[in-house]
Amino acid sequence: MSISFRLKYIAGLVSPGYTVADIGTDHGYVPVFLLREKIIPHAIAVDLSKGSLEKARELAEQAGLREQMDCRLSDGLSDVKPGEAQCIIIAGMGGILMRRILDSGLETVLAADELILSPHRNPELILDFLEEHSFRVVSDEIITDKKKQYRVIKAVRL
Ligand SMILES: C[S@@+](CC[C@H](N)C(=O)[O-])C[C@H]1O[C@@H](n2cnc3c(N)ncnc32)[C@H](O)[C@@H]1O
Repeated sequence: MSISFRLKYIAGLVSPGYTVADIGTDHGYVPVFLLREKIIPHAIAVDLSKGSLEKARELAEQAGLREQMDCRLSDGLSDVKPGEAQCIIIAGMGGILMRRILDSGLETVLAADELILSPHRNPELILDFLEEHSFRVVSDEIITDKKKQYRVIKAVRL
């Protein structure tokens, strides 16, 4: 399995040893990469789409990592309990949807130590959220992958 520069960059921001919840995981590339490289011990892969979650489950299965990756069919953070994940990744969606996911899963978000967020549009909504909830932005970069630019923000609890 090879993953894109963008997803590798996102994975590189995760603190080793944390349990990661990847919301909108699609193929499950990021959590499987993190588990395979032994950067993290456990992952929660969440997607609203049955088809996407099935792809993530199969990828974990092929890599022999099924026991370390929980696959949850759900909307945003609604099935991730506070304290279950120290790192939350949300990437590859617009800022409006991302903000809705963060707001509706607020208890779980506030119990996490770090957030890695890559909004494709409206990043200002995400920066507002982080400021309102006293997260400190420790990295905010625009990266280029296959001639496309992506904003990737990492924030930690103050
Ligand atoms: C464009 S893909 C991004 C995949 C991956 N995170 C990335 O950055 O490449 C967006 C994924 O988010 C999922 N998604 C959209 N809304 C969601 C929600 N409310 N809760 C969970 N997953 C959602 C979609 O089904 C899709 O698999």
